[in-house]
Amino acid sequence: MNRGRPLGDYGVDAPWVPWMMVGFGVIYLVLSGCAFWLWDSPGFGVVIGVIGLLMFVSAWLYWHTTRRGKFAVWREVLAETPAATRVLDMGCGRGAVSIMAAQQYPQAAVTGIDLWRSVDQSGNTPDAAERNAQLNDVADRLSLLTGDMTQLPCADGSFDLVTASLSIHNIHTADGREKAIDEAWRVLSPGGRLLIVDISKTREYEQRLRDLGAADVRRRPVGWRMWWSGPWMATTELRAMKPIA
Ligand SMILES: C[S@@+](CC[C@H](N)C(=O)[O-])C[C@H]1O[C@@H](n2cnc3c(N)ncnc32)[C@H](O)[C@@H]1O
Repeated sequence: MNRGRPLGDYGVDAPWVPWMMVGFGVIYLVLSGCAFWLWDSPGFGVVIGVIGLLMFVSAWLYWHTTRRGKFAVWREVLAETPAATRVLDMGCGRGAVSIMAAQQYPQAAVTGIDLWRSVDQSGNTPDAAERNAQLNDVADRLSLLTGDMTQLPCADGSFDLVTASLSIHNIHTADGREKAIDEAWRVLSPGGRLLIVDISKTREYEQRLRDLGAADVRRRPVGWRMWWSGPWMATTELRAMKPIA
């Protein structure tokens, strides 16, 4: 099984965040230097210096997650999911999960939908996703749509697998997130599965899915490979199935 990142460039998720950590790290280290050499306050200098170094460690963890960890986790999440033939990836960005799904399920036709927001992922365009699909020889099985996951332009029951990687939390209202879950549910066929991997609000999604009558609902932390700076910004997987009857 391929455990790594597919070929191509998948950008950086919320690219301003790691740069902010590096910026704070530099500021703390400069202040630490001032505490030692200008203010004659070595105790304060040590504390603030350690905080500065931790900022760099956090930035490295973030970088690792966005460039490697999330791919390794999604490979496993998809490998643990029964084969699908019609896959929808909500908030597909540059195509990471869409492409891995096409690789995992060679019979599958995959649709990726996105609003292509560069604040959520660097270089986020349909062309970037298309290029990545071509590099991995799956472009003939990947269709890209521009649209909002709260109003999917797709027929009821038209997919047997719906994925959402780090995308639903970007909707800032609870109402909007509920609509996204409802839409994912609407387009799932009976027996179809929903896979969500996200950094927050997963209890909220879980509750909504239970209200909708989902079966096999499971939620679990995915571990350090998707720590966006540390355990305080961990990632959770949520799975559910639409009952057949
Ligand atoms: C952090 S990126 C993750 C992209 C991709 N799923 C991945 O894991 O690499 C979040 C994505 O969700 C998309 N997005 C945010 N709100 C959306 C909405 N309401 N409808 C569709 N896509 C949305 C953004 O444009 C962005 O591509």
